[in-house]
Order: sequence, then C-alpha cells, then structure tokens
Amino acid sequence: MKNHNRASLAHQVGYALRRPGRIPRHLRRVTRNAWLRLSTSDHVGYYRAIMRSEAARGAHAATGSRSHRRWLAIGQMQFDYLVRHGLAPGHRMLEIGCGNLRAGRLFIGHLDTGDYYGVDISPDILFAAQDVVADYGLREKLPHLTVIKDLRFEFLPDAMFDVVHAHSVFSHSPPEVIEECFEHIGRIMKPGGWFDFTFDRTEGQEHQVLGEDFYYRTGTLVALAEKHGLRATFMDDWERLPHKQSKIRVTLPDRVAADTPRPGVATVPPQAPAAEVQR
Ligand SMILES: C[S@@+](CC[C@H](N)C(=O)[O-])C[C@H]1O[C@@H](n2cnc3c(N)ncnc32)[C@H](O)[C@@H]1O
Repeated sequence: MKNHNRASLAHQVGYALRRPGRIPRHLRRVTRNAWLRLSTSDHVGYYRAIMRSEAARGAHAATGSRSHRRWLAIGQMQFDYLVRHGLAPGHRMLEIGCGNLRAGRLFIGHLDTGDYYGVDISPDILFAAQDVVADYGLREKLPHLTVIKDLRFEFLPDAMFDVVHAHSVFSHSPPEVIEECFEHIGRIMKPGGWFDFTFDRTEGQEHQVLGEDFYYRTGTLVALAEKHGLRATFMDDWERLPHKQSKIRVTLPDRVAADTPRPGVATVPPQAPAAEVQR
C-alpha cells in the first residue's frame, strides 16, 4: 500500500464502503480539524491544538497507541533498535516529539542521569510525560522535558547530542517543518552523532490527509537533508520490523566531523529543491 493516495476521493469512498461504522468518527475529525485550522495561524499551532484535543481523550491514544500493551510494544521497538545501533550510557540524547515517553522512559532508564532531553510542541502531552517519569520511578534520572515552539533549537548549545531521535513526528509534519529541522539540527549534533527519524513513505504521489498525516517519497527527504549539508541513509533493517513507517538516518558529512564550519552555520552549495507535497 506504499503507493496508495489516502487523500484521493476513490480511497475515501472505498474506505467508507469497507468501514461504514467509522464514518461518524471521521466526520467529527474533519469538523474538528476545520475549526482548529481556522483558529490557528500555522501548522505547529494547529498540530498543538490537535494534540490538546487528543490528549484530553487519553495520552496513549494521542501518541497513536490503541492500548497500553501497544504503547509498551512500540516504545520497546524504538528502544531495542537504537540500542542495537549503539545507543549507550554516556551518550547524550535529544528526542524530538517525545510525546508521553513511549520510548523515552526506556531511554531515560538506559542513559546516565541528565542525559535525556525530550522536546515537544504540546504542553498537554508533556504533562502526561511527567506522570510517566513519576510512575516509572525515573525522577532521579532528571530527564529534561521542554516545550518548544519550532525546530530551530536556539536554546541548545552547539555539538551537544550523540543521538537525536524523532519517531512518528515527521509523519505529522509538512515540508517546511522538516526543512526547518534539517536546517538547524546539524549545529547541535556531535561529530559522529546520528539522527534517526521515521516517516510515512509513499512510492506514489506525495500527499497529506486533513493536515495531520503526511506521506513522502524517500528521495524527497534525502534531497531535503542533503540540501542542508547532511548525509541521509534509508534504514533497511528497520523495514524488517512490524511497523508501518520507514526510517532515515541523518549524519554529518565526514568533512564536518573533522572541520568546522558545521551545517546550520556553514554556507551550503544550493541544490535542487525537494518535490512539493500535494496539499
Ligand atoms: C505520534 S506522537 C509520537 C510521540 C513519540 N515520539 C512516541 O513515539 O511515542 C507525535 C508527537 O510529536 C509531537 N510533534 C508533532 N509535531 C512536532 C514538531 N514540529 N516539533 C516537535 N514535536 C512535534 C506531537 O506533539 C506528539 O507528541
């Protein structure tokens, strides 16, 4: 289904015919989103309002988990993958869009005290994250949980993080939000560090649904990262896991690891712009 356009009328009619019981819920979502779009001025404000509405119904559901069992399983999958790839105590980690710490609670437990930084645009989900810190006995690990207004990271120092992680965040982000992240992330990554993010992959036309779910071609995101002086690699081993999103790893190019200036500060030669996402 990687080339399926969920925004197309054919898909929507087919879906409604297959699952008529879901039509009322879908219509409520359409109405809510239309109102939230009118009452907010940009995507981050809009998505923050969506998270407020979703978190009021339950933090697990707001982060996309149908049940507590599923919440635990998806967190464990993220954690096991990063540990297999070398995440270890002594590393400093930034989690973008940390939600209510589905994986973050495991990262916090694994890393040294004070080395986990979780950021999110939603204060409501960070309140739920604080409950998870308390409930899982992680207070003494002193995790940093910070609400952010954009992905410029201006409050964080240069070359700070060994590992940056964003799970199921760019699947809810338009191109300009992802590009803002790529423009600034290199500055706060350590040489040799890596940034993994998941995305909803399509092999057909790029599209979005209700301003909430965004589907990208791999090449678009790779080109966007490269435009900002980063190296991007599609992670084949993640595809073998039972998860519907795909994963890309971003690293600093070798010359940046050795020299300054760094991406986000350096002048990057202009390259072809990434393909437009159909609105
Ligand atoms: C589907 S949830 C996933 C949460 C967490 N990564 C996990 O795996 O449980 C998406 C999270 O990303 C946050 N988010 C969405 N757009 C964001 C952005 N531009 N910057 C930071 N966080 C964002 C949302 O508020 C939400 O908490």
